Order: sequence, then C-alpha cells, then structure tokens
Amino acid sequence: MLNLPAAEIHLWFCRPYELELDHAYLTLLQATLDADELHRMRRFKFERHRQQFCVSHAMTRWVLSHYANLPPEQWQFDKNEHGKPFIANDAYRDLQFNLSHTDGLQLLAVRRALPVGADVERCNGRVEGPNIANRFFSPTEVAELRGFPDDIQRKVFFDYWTLKESYIKACGKGLVIPLRHFSYSLAQDAIGINFAPERDDEPGDWQFWLLAAGIDHTCALAASGALQATRVATLRGWDVTPLRKITERPIAILKQSQRP
Ligand code: COA
Ligand code: MG
Repeated sequence: MLNLPAAEIHLWFCRPYELELDHAYLTLLQATLDADELHRMRRFKFERHRQQFCVSHAMTRWVLSHYANLPPEQWQFDKNEHGKPFIANDAYRDLQFNLSHTDGLQLLAVRRALPVGADVERCNGRVEGPNIANRFFSPTEVAELRGFPDDIQRKVFFDYWTLKESYIKACGKGLVIPLRHFSYSLAQDAIGINFAPERDDEPGDWQFWLLAAGIDHTCALAASGALQATRVATLRGWDVTPLRKITERPIAILKQSQRP
C-alpha cells in the first residue's frame, strides 16, 4: 500500500496512445467500471473516445486501490451539485482526487482531506487563443498575455487556461465561478493570483504549479490549504499502465506559486 502523507500530492499520468488497447485488455479495464461509467462510456460516438474514457476511469479506480484495501471495482463515487466526483465509500472519504483528460494525456491527482484541481490540455490543436482570452480571461490577464513575445503567446495562453481550470476544478464549482473573478500573473518567476472582492478567497492559501508534460500538452495543478504549515504540499509522480504497471518518475516543475 502506498503512503500518502498530508503534505504530499500524488500525480498519476497515463498516455492512452502508448497503451496496447486490444480487446482482452479493454475488457479487463471495463470490468472495473460501474453501471454509471459504462453508461457514460457508451454514449461517446467514437471508439477512440470510448476507449479514452474507459482507460481514465479504470486508471482512477486502480490508482485509488493503491491507497486502500479495496479492489478497483469496489470504489463508489458520488458528485457534488456541480458534478465534481468524490469517494462515497465511508472508510475512504478523506481521499481527495481530481481527474483531467485530453487527447493523448490523462492526469489523476490524489491527496488527503483537502481539495485539489488538475487540468491537462492539448496545446497544439486549432484553438483561437486570443479570441478565447478576450472572452474568458480577466482584463489584466489579457494585457499580460499580449506582453509575451508573439512566438510564445500561444503556449502561454494554455498556461493561463489550464491554471484557471485547475482552480475552478479544485473549488469543485466548474464554470459557476466567473472566470474574471480571479486573475493569474505569469510575467514573474513565480505564479501569482489575485481574487476579485466577489470571490472572497485568499492567495496565500493556494499553491499552483505548471508542470512539464511534453510539447503537445500543458498541465496545471491547484491545491488549497497552504495557510496550514503542515499542509504545504510537495509533489510525487508516476506513469501508469492501468491494472498493469506504475513507474515513479520525477515531476518537472516549470513554474510555481511562491512557497509559503
Ligand atoms: N469540479 C472538479 N472536477 C470535476 C467537475 C467539477 N465541477 N465536474 C467534473 N469533474 C471531473 C470529472 O472527473 C471529469 O471527468 P469525467 O467526465 O470523465 O468523469 C473531469 O473532471 C473532467 O475534467 P477535464 O478533463 O479537465 O475536462 P474539462 O477541462 O473539459 O472540464 C469542468 C472541466 C467540467 C470541471 C469545467 O471546468 C468545464 O466545463 N470547463 C469547460 C472549459 C472552459 O471553458 N474552460 C475555461 C478556462 S479559461
Ligand atoms: Mg480540461
């Protein structure tokens, strides 16, 4: 069983295109899912999307089983009113997790008792970065983004985007949180954040990270609780082949918030 100290966040990365998803393996993965997951999986039109959903949910279950004396198929999940899943097995409610999946990369973040939010996005597809920034980012974020050299603006756009997602996912409220009510600053060495008065949140309580995830993907993580000295978090990471193999590997931090 894996030890999960209060001050650690564990990150589990899976690259579905690197797996050999033959029929026998997919059948094993599927056998760990519950009726709700199978129903959701079957609603995807394309096989590729069904497979990625299956892999990410089987990964979640199998990884969680590294922290508990429970087989993958016995995890029960519930959702808050905004759709954030949480563990419903009474004995393990203090395990917090957040899953993110995008084409070619899946990330599961796990920690004890306090919320965590993760976001991975493919950053080399066709996205109208500047238009989206104008619509969804705060005015200071838009201005700061425009100040970056042209050739890296596109990459930096995804840094803001995934960080914004990681915060709303940690809070568990999705897009109910107006995206202009919090502003990141990425122009300095450390990640900064400002909350609008309406948001009533405390920058010092948060830790944020941008993590290296290969040239095709951007990866951000948000964790609250840093006001408690014992909960200032450090990261550990693994690559996962669900049901088969885990390999611990160093986490490469590209940028992080000021250490409390
Ligand atoms: N809070 C936290 N996690 C949530 C959640 C919530 N309210 N609702 C769902 N999740 C979890 C689930 O595990 C979900 O996986 P599943 O659908 O396979 O069960 C997973 O997060 C999805 O996360 P991700 O893969 O990162 O998807 P996303 O980035 O498309 O969406 C949302 C994340 C649903 C929480 C929400 O933020 C959203 O709809 N975002 C839309 C994108 C957008 O406009 N972003 C603006 C950024 S500037
Ligand atoms: Mg996402």
